[in-house]
Amino acid sequence: MTEATIHPMRGPNAFKLGVFSMNADGGLTLTKVPERWPATWPELMRMAQYADSAGYEFLLPIARWKGFGGEMNSREWSFETLTLASALAAVTQRIAVFSTVHVPMVHPVLAAKALATIDHVSGGRAGLNIVCGWNPEEFDLFGLSLIEDRYGQGLEWFEIVERLYTSEEPFDYDGKYYQLKGVSGKPRPVQRPRPVTLNAAFSAPGRDFAARAADYLFTTFTEIENGREPIEDMRRRSAETGRDVGVFTTCHVVCRPTRAEAEDYYESYAVQYEDSASVDKYMGAKAKHSQSHSEDAYRLHRKRFAGGGGTYPLVGTPQDIAAEMVRMHEVGFAGTTLSFVNYLDELPYFTESVLPHLREAGLRG
Ligand SMILES: Cc1cc2nc3c(=O)[nH]c(=O)nc-3n(C[C@H](O)[C@H](O)[C@H](O)COP(=O)(O)O)c2cc1C
Repeated sequence: MTEATIHPMRGPNAFKLGVFSMNADGGLTLTKVPERWPATWPELMRMAQYADSAGYEFLLPIARWKGFGGEMNSREWSFETLTLASALAAVTQRIAVFSTVHVPMVHPVLAAKALATIDHVSGGRAGLNIVCGWNPEEFDLFGLSLIEDRYGQGLEWFEIVERLYTSEEPFDYDGKYYQLKGVSGKPRPVQRPRPVTLNAAFSAPGRDFAARAADYLFTTFTEIENGREPIEDMRRRSAETGRDVGVFTTCHVVCRPTRAEAEDYYESYAVQYEDSASVDKYMGAKAKHSQSHSEDAYRLHRKRFAGGGGTYPLVGTPQDIAAEMVRMHEVGFAGTTLSFVNYLDELPYFTESVLPHLREAGLRG
């Protein structure tokens, strides 16, 4: 890809699709079924190459440093996302390769150089997903404390990355969280002024941060109709900063030829085979330390947490799932990520059976 080529996130499809959390064992699930995603490199590479050739827009890893306990300790096995994106860039052709970067754990000067490296390896297909963090066990692992003002630190972090990419001269930075001297670095990324940026968040401060620093908010919703709220809210907040910030969301998928087959499998892996202690731990920690889901989600949707980390379930026939995606597009989402119990087993069926309906609906070419 050359500098003049459009980044996949800015391509023509009206509803963009990415694959999320394929770098971690279990994907987004907290299940014990034997076919759960192992996230080994050979399988991950094959899945990425498949998604690339099938025309999906992006690969988005999860950033995790600790597992969630229970029998499987899901996500303890997860590949680091900057080094992974560089490897995926080298084995794919068209798809965007995102890195999900924790502001408090990764120094902005390191992040900027790593991201520029990925952008060169990929010919301008890098993406940055900024996460400010929520899990105290992960902060403990780095000897850090979770701070109230996480987005204040995020803004300084982002400003340093942007200035590194744009400043003609080495600069000093004297902020609340970073005091740096003589900051400079080359190469600059292929994308100017910086790679496409998402901010994964739900709360009002998270949305304000996205309005100032991101191209897209990456967020959850509980019911499709309620999706209008973050989209309109984001429109208002980004209008105030004079920017246009779209909204991506995230879903887990069980797509089968009949509704009964899909629902039976969902019930099996997310209820009968849920990894109960890890679901308890994950839901408890998320409810206490993050606002990444609405309060209803914790009260009503345990199955969604076991089934896909609390994301929205797309469970049914190809027609059912395509119809839900059309509604998601109608409420204003720019696209969604997909996750599966086993990406390599399930993504091809999704491609062959759901994408034609989305083409017919005019959502994808
Ligand atoms: C869709 C989505 C994806 C997220 N992905 C990650 C992730 O990969 N790693 C992580 O530590 N936090 C992740 N988060 C958590 C956020 O970065 C943030 O810490 C959390 O949502 C709490 O902040 P908030 O209340 O502003 O949303 C994600 C949040 C959302 C909504």
